[in-house]
Amino acid sequence: MLRAATCDDAEGTWAYRRLPDVNEWLTGTFDTYDDYVTQFTDPDRLAATVIVERHDATLIGDFMLRRQDAWAQSDVAARAAAQEVELGWVLDPAHAGHGYATEAVEELLRHSFEELCVHRVVASCFTANVTSWRLMERLGMRREAHTRRDAFHRSGQWLDSFGYALLADEWRRDRTDSGGLTSR
Ligand SMILES: CC(C)(COP(=O)(O)OP(=O)(O)OC[C@H]1O[C@@H](n2cnc3c(N)ncnc32)[C@H](O)[C@@H]1OP(=O)(O)O)[C@@H](O)C(=O)NCCC(=O)NCCS
Repeated sequence: MLRAATCDDAEGTWAYRRLPDVNEWLTGTFDTYDDYVTQFTDPDRLAATVIVERHDATLIGDFMLRRQDAWAQSDVAARAAAQEVELGWVLDPAHAGHGYATEAVEELLRHSFEELCVHRVVASCFTANVTSWRLMERLGMRREAHTRRDAFHRSGQWLDSFGYALLADEWRRDRTDSGGLTSR
């Protein structure tokens, strides 16, 4: 089940987000639980956070769905307003490897295209984050950028990134062609 996050989800998400293997590729970091709660409950962040629960109501992940303006020339910018969604994902490793993230992101794509009616969905990751880009490929997202040493990692290294996207047209075409998920 997917639902909107609340301040009360800070503790449940902290349980896995504090693990070094989970935090390795994430942007945010925190020194204490109080720091984490302050970040998690920031109203902008909370509004973009989707909680993933299993059928038995166990919290297994927190994903991001952030609606934003697409790039446009200034005279037509109003027509591109809120036409893009950026997605992100963090799954409790205790529940990895069962397809839960795939199922959740498939629904976020459907919601973005069918209910929010956006033109394009984007997501990005470090190239070294193999499970993340494999997830995007499994969902039929298209790799459209491989940027060289564009992102500074807390290890002290400049790392490469991948940018993925899916257009509303592509999503509809893939669903028509395959009757559901696209696997590549
Ligand atoms: C990225 C992340 C969400 C991917 O999690 P995941 O467990 O690989 O994804 P899923 O839950 O969709 O599971 C897919 C795996 O389950 C398998 N699977 C089993 N049943 C499945 C099903 N019914 N449907 C799809 N996959 C299934 C798949 O084959 C796949 O395994 P494989 O990679 O060995 O082929 C997870 O690694 C994570 O949270 N990482 C830490 C945080 C992070 O890096 N976030 C991204 C920052 S950019």
